Amino acid sequence: MSVSYMTHPLIKHKITLLRKESTTTNEFRKLVEEIAMLMGYEALSDLQTEEIKITTPIEETTQPVIQGKKLAVVPILRAGLGMVSGILALVPSARVGHIGLYRDPETHLPHEYYCKLPDPIEERQIVVVDPMLATGGSAIAAVDFIKKHGGQRIKFMSIIAAPEGVSALIKAHPDIQLYVGSLDRCLNENAYICPGLGDAGDRIFGTK
Ligand code: PRP
Ligand code: URA
Repeated sequence: MSVSYMTHPLIKHKITLLRKESTTTNEFRKLVEEIAMLMGYEALSDLQTEEIKITTPIEETTQPVIQGKKLAVVPILRAGLGMVSGILALVPSARVGHIGLYRDPETHLPHEYYCKLPDPIEERQIVVVDPMLATGGSAIAAVDFIKKHGGQRIKFMSIIAAPEGVSALIKAHPDIQLYVGSLDRCLNENAYICPGLGDAGDRIFGTK
């Protein structure tokens, strides 16, 4: 697996704002979308292109375009939903799948409640998005599901990750590419990331 840690100052700045307790739901959503777009710009730098013929005001020419229909964005519900619009702003014709998982508050283990992927999935570049990579349980379960359905080329984008989650995901899925906005210090006794940003789903959707 390759792990890329974001170094762009704009990403760092926006993640700092995201963490603040005083950031409102409205601001939080906007920041998640913007960070996803900036991280997507980095993570999609190896996207495949194809040549198409176009006519400029001057002449006919053959030029590259992204093979947009070959991309699938797959958010892990709920919080991953907040990142989808940022990726679609870059690749509007990408397909979108959904993987519904929630962590049991006691065991911290992921429970699946909904999964639907674009069909066929085999040929697509898949970008799984979830703002938080904590124990890694949800990420591992999501990638397990995608692979079970034939997905092969998988990138995983998380805005904030704990070292424990990165290690677990690398161990379970050494073949995927991981993109992390910020690598935080550790998990606390409730498996929340420190310093983190709290519960990403609650902050995006204004629930508690
Ligand atoms: C959060 C987050 C990840 C998961 C990370 O979701 O969005 O999916 O926790 O934790 P893990 O790495 O320990 O599995 P949560 O289960 O709280 O569900 P929600 O988005 O519906 O609130
Ligand atoms: N899920 C979250 O939303 N936040 C954490 O810190 C850990 C898991």
